[in-house]
Amino acid sequence: MAKQFSGNVFEKVQDEQRQGEVYEATTVLGGKKKMYLESYGCQMNFSDSEIVASIMADNNYVATTELSEADVVFINTCSIRENAEQKVRGRLQVFRQHKKQKPDMMIGVLGCMAERLKSKLLEQEKLVDLVVGPDAYKDLPNLLNKVDSGQQAVNVLLSREETYADITPVRLGGNGILAFVTIMRGCDNMCSFCVVPFTRGRERSRDVHTIVEECRQLAEQGYKEITLLGQNVDSYHWSSEDGTETVNFAGLLDRVAKIDPLVRIRFSTSHPKDITDEVLHTMAAHHNICKCIHLPVQAGSSEVLKRMNRTYDREWYLDRVAAIRRILPDCAITSDIIAGFCGETEEQHRETISMMESVRYTMNFMFKYSERPGTLAARKFEDDVPEEVKGRRLQEIIDLQGQHSLESNQADLGKVFEVLVEGPSRKSDEHFCGRNSQNKMLVFPHQGVKAGQYVNVLVERVTQATLIGRIVD
Ligand code: SAH
Ligand code: SF4
Ligand code: F3S
Repeated sequence: MAKQFSGNVFEKVQDEQRQGEVYEATTVLGGKKKMYLESYGCQMNFSDSEIVASIMADNNYVATTELSEADVVFINTCSIRENAEQKVRGRLQVFRQHKKQKPDMMIGVLGCMAERLKSKLLEQEKLVDLVVGPDAYKDLPNLLNKVDSGQQAVNVLLSREETYADITPVRLGGNGILAFVTIMRGCDNMCSFCVVPFTRGRERSRDVHTIVEECRQLAEQGYKEITLLGQNVDSYHWSSEDGTETVNFAGLLDRVAKIDPLVRIRFSTSHPKDITDEVLHTMAAHHNICKCIHLPVQAGSSEVLKRMNRTYDREWYLDRVAAIRRILPDCAITSDIIAGFCGETEEQHRETISMMESVRYTMNFMFKYSERPGTLAARKFEDDVPEEVKGRRLQEIIDLQGQHSLESNQADLGKVFEVLVEGPSRKSDEHFCGRNSQNKMLVFPHQGVKAGQYVNVLVERVTQATLIGRIVD
């Protein structure tokens, strides 16, 4: 399977995820019609695109990165913030121009925006033919037939069961070393700011055996790092039908880590209310479970957290951080922070700042609050923090994080880390890059090493974003 991509890779800046990656998966798919697939949003959406590619491949489609060649154009969308949706609307305008040249081209909106707007999207975006929510991808061939016969097609049914466990994803856009495996779908948490429970439906965990099998196959194919994905991985819970076998997240981690000691395991996202000491001890027990926990705090003030319906307070969060420090002394902690949530006072903003000072995150994804229609916060609270105040608070948070990231990297000077080589660094072919267990990026002269190998790297210089060094024995 060719695994190439074009478009922007890791256009990170202020968004947590890869943006607008376009996939090309040529040779093996071997069909006649061409599909162009562009993806936005979180890693789970990118993983869903791999499911979509698999379903389309089974239905005789090859993927293309040339929009003008496409018979079907899919855009897998995100609704998390207003600007995520604006980006998609901008792209739909571009697709529209192409469709004018090629009227038979079908345009499909997939993912969270499809789910949020449903058939409204067909009215708002005139040339869209298909609207398909995240649980309805198996219906794609049928929906495409419907469009072929001149009708518009919508399927936005959310499921209590669908986990796509029986579909082997077509691995897209990777280098054959890093893979992502969805272990659960949906979210039952109802954080008041968040649209995900509405776009992704109820939380459900995938059968442990299908997860372990998928990971085993990845290991066999030579993948060296697997990231387990879910909106709240710590509430993973699966029981066999006869009730004799029950597995929680710690149990799943243990099973996946044992597949191959040379395959690293990461996971995201951990919810502070659910992360247990058992998970931390499991991490400690396995060298190949990476020592990095993404533990989004969102805000430092207990009152704000209450309005956010996060179901933990400042003390609880700090207690979880203390447990991580105790059980996993070398573990990095990263987070998401929202600036300017409804009713946030200057004092409450300062509590976010002091939370950052206490935890010292190695990295943070930081956002201005963006009201999402239909969420609890949109219904209950006024979005009353003025735009310029949100902007200023966000900037303070970003500046402080920059300082903390740099200090955290400076503390690594002179240390040697085991690094999984990912490939040439972005700046020069003479340098390779890879991450350490803490998920920090290291850059080093390649000295003949290959992607997928583990090397020990001595850190000699640092920037805010990178550790720079050389390979040592
Ligand atoms: N399930 C994960 C988060 C998924 S969304 C968790 O619970 O942590 C990723 C991040 O987007 C969230 O952590 C939050 O910081 C941010 N986010 C979600 N809704 C938002 C909104 N309405 N405005 C701004 N940021 C938001
Ligand atoms: Fe959204 Fe909260 Fe669920 Fe995360 S845990 S997806 S922030 S509702
Ligand atoms: Fe966006 Fe949906 Fe993910 S709203 S962040 S793509 S779950």
